[in-house]
Amino acid sequence: MQALRIISEDHSNMWRLATTIDQVALEIEAGAAVDPVFFNSVFDYIEQFVDHSHHAREDDHLFRLLRLRSTEAAAILDPLQEEHRNGPQQLKTLRACVLQAAQGDLNVPEFVAVLRVYTAGLKSHMHHEEKFALPLAREVLTADDWAEIDRAFLNNDDPLFGDKAKAEFRELFHRIASLAPESIGLGAHTAGKLQPDSAPGKADVLLRVSSMESCYGRIKALKGISLEVRRGETVALVGANGAGKTTFLRTLSGVQPMSAGNIHFDGEDISKLRSDMRMRRGICQSPEGRQVFGPLSIDDNLRLGAYTQPRHQVAGDLEKVFAMFPILREKRKLPAGTLSGGQQQMLAIGRALMGRPRMLLLDEPSMGLAPLLVEEVFNVVKTLKAQGMTILLVEQNAFAALAIADRGYVLETGNVTLTGTGQELINNEQVRAAYLGM
Ligand SMILES: Nc1ncnc2c1ncn2[C@@H]1O[C@H](COP(=O)(O)OP(=O)(O)OP(=O)(O)O)[C@@H](O)[C@H]1O
Ligand SMILES: [Mg+2]
Repeated sequence: MQALRIISEDHSNMWRLATTIDQVALEIEAGAAVDPVFFNSVFDYIEQFVDHSHHAREDDHLFRLLRLRSTEAAAILDPLQEEHRNGPQQLKTLRACVLQAAQGDLNVPEFVAVLRVYTAGLKSHMHHEEKFALPLAREVLTADDWAEIDRAFLNNDDPLFGDKAKAEFRELFHRIASLAPESIGLGAHTAGKLQPDSAPGKADVLLRVSSMESCYGRIKALKGISLEVRRGETVALVGANGAGKTTFLRTLSGVQPMSAGNIHFDGEDISKLRSDMRMRRGICQSPEGRQVFGPLSIDDNLRLGAYTQPRHQVAGDLEKVFAMFPILREKRKLPAGTLSGGQQQMLAIGRALMGRPRMLLLDEPSMGLAPLLVEEVFNVVKTLKAQGMTILLVEQNAFAALAIADRGYVLETGNVTLTGTGQELINNEQVRAAYLGM
């Protein structure tokens, strides 16, 4: 059933695109210019990737077999395949609208309405497919059926679906990400670029970790990690389960003992400092699994994050966190345990911000969240980045993390095996095969 994984990854990319278009529509409503280059990149992507590859394989294999195996299939698939057939014409119309809007021949409200109808259609298509078609497929298709479908979805011989084509899709996606306005979570404006002040030799390094080792009993979980984070940089740490990502963050913040190596933060050797002293220096962590204090109110959870801070600044900082996460203000008196997963993640990030981080450590902030919330969490990370925050981001969602990161490190069983800019890593064969499912 590998096809299902591929389909759901395709969908999450498409969902991000649809959300991006929605936000661009909002900005156009607010007076931004219509950028034909941006829209045509999005439409190129949808045309090449979705119409030619994704839909074609669904139609030829998954949906065909589903119709053979179930009498219920027709009612579910007819509208979906009708939409597949209409896709190319719809894009043609959209391209024409973009041209007219850019030339001022189509007014803003009408253009925005056209965009919204389109994205609502895309989203409802994916919804319908995930809610009805895929569950039915899981239920009725045989092992032989799946073998055929998986072969089709994994097939790399066909030039259209081959590595070259995939590389082109990725390039396109990156292009869209870099054309999208800064406020959009998809964006990768600075991805692949080092900070301007990061020329070798005079880089403004905030954190330098050298040969860090850490053990659980006799098991060495970190085997000599060296990495650097420059001021204002977003650095992603990606790697499989058990690679040591969490151990690294915990060792860095001082809650897990370090058995060898050293840590310099802002020029100071903090290797021997206790965790609360490191927090005072500005190393603040939003831990894996959020770990909010369920019975305590949201207010109190946030105040706990400020326990190393002078009292007089707490009220003002609370306001700033509430301004960033209005939902937390609304619910401030409620126990944190009543919040949804996404809201708890906001709370965990808010709590870390209350410590006035100079470097924010985020451990899997998107873990276990629905796609839309994942998007929101990445938006938050992007906003913090845009405000100049230095961020060390650990993520299982490697694609999204590398897309917004300036640089990344790949961790494997306690070692750094690869490093590069976000874009270099996204384009690296090994990384793609191991972590991006491409
Ligand atoms: N409390 C513990 N006691 C013993 N071994 C541990 C403990 N925590 C982690 N380990 C081991 O240390 C290694 C690194 O684990 P760690 O949790 O740092 O990985 P990770 O990259 O964060 O993984 P994940 O993606 O699952 O969060 C693994 O082999 C893990 O089994
Ligand atoms: Mg972890």
